[in-house]
Amino acid sequence: MAKTIAIVGAGWGDEGKGAVVSDLAREAQGVGRFQGGNNAGHTLYDSQGRKVVVNIAPSGVIYPHVQNIIGNGCVIDLEVLDHNLKDLINDPKLLISDGAHLIFDYHKQLDQARENSSAKIGTTKRGTGPAYADKINRLGIRASLLRRPKDLEEQIREAANLKNEELELWDSAGTINADILITKIRPLVEKYRGLVADASLFLDKFIKAGNRFIFEGAQGALLDIDHGTYPHVTSSSTTVAGLLAGAGLGLKSIDVAVGVAKLYCSRVGEGSFPTEGESYGNIKNLTRDTAPKLTLDEKIVVYGGIRAHPDYNCLALRLIQEQGDEFGATTGRMRRTGWLDIVALKKAIRVNGLDWLVGTRIDTLDRIGTVKVCTHYQNKETGEFSYDFPGEELELEQMVPQYFEFPGWMSTTGVRAFDRLPRNAQDYLSAIEGLTGVKFAGIRNGPRQGDYIQRTNLWRL
Ligand code: IMO
Ligand code: MG
Repeated sequence: MAKTIAIVGAGWGDEGKGAVVSDLAREAQGVGRFQGGNNAGHTLYDSQGRKVVVNIAPSGVIYPHVQNIIGNGCVIDLEVLDHNLKDLINDPKLLISDGAHLIFDYHKQLDQARENSSAKIGTTKRGTGPAYADKINRLGIRASLLRRPKDLEEQIREAANLKNEELELWDSAGTINADILITKIRPLVEKYRGLVADASLFLDKFIKAGNRFIFEGAQGALLDIDHGTYPHVTSSSTTVAGLLAGAGLGLKSIDVAVGVAKLYCSRVGEGSFPTEGESYGNIKNLTRDTAPKLTLDEKIVVYGGIRAHPDYNCLALRLIQEQGDEFGATTGRMRRTGWLDIVALKKAIRVNGLDWLVGTRIDTLDRIGTVKVCTHYQNKETGEFSYDFPGEELELEQMVPQYFEFPGWMSTTGVRAFDRLPRNAQDYLSAIEGLTGVKFAGIRNGPRQGDYIQRTNLWRL
């Protein structure tokens, strides 16, 4: 029987990991985050159907029975953590690793300053990249210091001096006042210092005692610092290996590795994205308020599956964006949408060693007349076909996706058994399994708890 499950993103983030984790956590005793910071945005619905968005708090905080952990691999902005925990109906159980690094205002200012420059990569501007840079540069401030407030304040003062020199190099950044910063965070230090402990030690005992535990990934394989579309990536290791390092546990601590694969692709910010389609246009700065809606005529092209129409690709992907309400949970930015990319998905399967997939958002594809899947690429320079995702972003930009087309289906909403799905939807999912060699443990068909078609109970493997 599986005791520990890793849930990681198999795309560019926003695959719906939070919903998968929160469904599984009903039968678990613990959930932890082990990499990333509040650049993540996990949208959950608690048992009473209330929407909760968490950014750094693990998705288990919506349940009183779950022990939550923030591991050493994370970077924590205490203000955001506090905000995440504020509106919960119950008091969550939480432990913070002494080895996690803290995000301060100067990290956010540096992130923002870089985004204002020509070196922009479309970050969430939450300071995660600069905080990880400090960690690797051995200049970071760790959560262990929350237990020693005097030393913490001293280190913040030292860091502020150094960071002010760095901030002055950027035109737009402003500087930092250490006194104001310290006064602002003092109540948070008081509030959270008691939760700091050696998470590796705790987890080892917790798992050995027979508790079911979920390692909750953030972001996705294609945003991984090593394996993603560098430099348009996040600053942490988003794979199963990253979860282990960020938890302080060994290889055998994860029984089952599950990739969450949205059944189309999306991406926020800059960076290559082969299946996005050339005519999609520049939507990166649009939000819910400014995004134009499709006209009825345009929708008819998509519902009719008129793929001979010159704009079919663009219109269908825009309709998917609209039907899926694809806006960032953290920044509100409109997400770029593209067809499912099997080449990219196979890379996510390989770098994580995935045992299972959970498909998400099948309902968002409802009524799309013709659904496409990218099976391989063709290099537009050489004409060669490629079945493997290139490691180099410049090479990826040479790739033209080659599609297989599927007839669409009307509605998957409310379905609770795989064989009750419309035949075309079943064929679409079976084809993905065939192309990747990995089975779906289940399919999500809505945002709420229980909007799930289970094929395999991951806890009963
Ligand atoms: P969840 O966990 C989607 C993206 C940003 C940007 C790049 C680098 O909700 O799936 P960063 O702020 O991390 O330095 O930005 O990574 N990004 C995400 N995209 N979902 C996320 O998290 C993301 N976290 C970071 O948009 O392109
Ligand atoms: Mg998200």
